[in-house]
Amino acid sequence: MPEALLAVSGVSKRFGGLLALNTVSFEVEAGQIYGVIGPNGAGKTTLFSCLVGAARPTAGEIRFRGGRIDGLPNWAVVSRGVVRTHQIVRPFRQMTVRENVSVGAHFGAGRRRGAEAASRVGAILEKTGLAPRAEALAGTLTIGESKRLEIARALATEPSVLCLDEVMGGLNPSEIQGAMSLIRTLREAGLTVLLIEHHVHAVVGLSDRILVLNFGERIAEGAPAGVMRDPAVISAYLGEDAPEGTPS
Ligand SMILES: Nc1ncnc2c1ncn2[C@@H]1O[C@H](COP(=O)(O)OP(=O)(O)O)[C@@H](O)[C@H]1O
Ligand SMILES: [Mg+2]
Repeated sequence: MPEALLAVSGVSKRFGGLLALNTVSFEVEAGQIYGVIGPNGAGKTTLFSCLVGAARPTAGEIRFRGGRIDGLPNWAVVSRGVVRTHQIVRPFRQMTVRENVSVGAHFGAGRRRGAEAASRVGAILEKTGLAPRAEALAGTLTIGESKRLEIARALATEPSVLCLDEVMGGLNPSEIQGAMSLIRTLREAGLTVLLIEHHVHAVVGLSDRILVLNFGERIAEGAPAGVMRDPAVISAYLGEDAPEGTPS
C-alpha cells in the first residue's frame, strides 16, 4: 500500500482538564479532498492546530511525506507545505489585499522575491476573485471577501496540503457555490485539501472521505454516503441545530 501523504496516529490534545482530541487517527492520500465534520467543540480546529504546528499534541504522531511534523513550529510546517486558514479571519487589516497576499508569497514553501512574487500574487488574486479588490484595505472587505483572502494568503505560501477551517461560514448560497468550485479547481491543480465545514451538503459534495469527530473522538470515517448514514453520526448531531444537508 502506498504511504499516505499525511498520517495522523493516536493524536491527543489536552487543555488542562479538557481532552480536546482523544487518540485520533486517520490518513489522507495525495490529491484527496478530505472532510472533517462534527458538532461545535468537537475538536476540529484543535486538530488543524496540531497539524500545522500551532499546537503541540499531548500524545501521538503526525507524519507528512513519511517524516514527523508534530512538535515542529508553525513556520517549519508551513515551509514543508502544510498550511491552514483560520476560522476567525486574521488579515492585516491596515494593509491592502495585495500586500496581505504578498506576505504569504515571501514566506512559506515558495519564498518568492521581487517580480516573481508579484506575478504569483497577481495570479492568486485572479484565481480567488479578489483582483478587483486588490488595492482595498483588508479591514474593509465583506465576510465573503475576507474568507477568500484567507484562502489567497494560504495559497501564496505554495502549499501542497491546504487545511480550510470553515471557509464557507457566513457565506450566502451563491458564495458557497463559488467556494466549492474554487476548492475543486485547487484540487485539479494538484493540491490536497482538508476541509472543516459546517455546511454538510458542501462537505458531502466535495469530499472523497470524511472524518467525524465528537467530543474529541473519531466516531466515523470513510466515504461520504456511508458516513452520513452512520447512526453514531446522526445521533451526534441530534440536539444540535442539524447542519444543512444532514440526512433525516
Ligand atoms: N487554547 C485552548 N485552551 C483551552 N481550551 C481550548 C483551547 N482551544 C480549544 N479549546 C477547547 O477544546 C474544545 C475543542 O475546541 P475546537 O477545536 O475549537 O472545536 P471545534 O473547532 O470542533 O468547534 C472546546 O471545548 C474548546 O473550548
Ligand atoms: Mg472550529
